[in-house]
Amino acid sequence: MTPPSDLPWWARWFRRSGRAKSPPARRLYLCTGPNCCTREEGLAAWCHLERRLGEAGLGAQIRAQRAECFNVCGDGPVGVVFPGPTWYGRLNPRRLDRVIEAHLIGGRPVVSLAFTPPADVRSPEPSAPEA
Ligand code: FES
Repeated sequence: MTPPSDLPWWARWFRRSGRAKSPPARRLYLCTGPNCCTREEGLAAWCHLERRLGEAGLGAQIRAQRAECFNVCGDGPVGVVFPGPTWYGRLNPRRLDRVIEAHLIGGRPVVSLAFTPPADVRSPEPSAPEA
């Protein structure tokens, strides 16, 4: 396990905040390919995500789950965050860190990385009804 001094600032803050004891507030589903990205890219993203959440002690606050194809099948690895949903593409480790920090921890979607999915997307959770 990574020593605390080697963690990014947000991971150290989250560990100290005690938020890890709360029920999961946000969920991230990540497609690991093979059509939106190569299996290697998908697994690299998934391993990075699991490692970051584990290092920061985020497992109780944020649920991450590998998912089957969302029917987006391009610009992957593709991820979707709930509540929302907010869809993200090309989630390489660097972009995943931005989503973890800003959206999963901070609650602010990363608009510059988000996209609108096609109409026939297969969402892993039903979306909240429109108000
Ligand atoms: S294979 Fe990832 S969205 Fe289809």
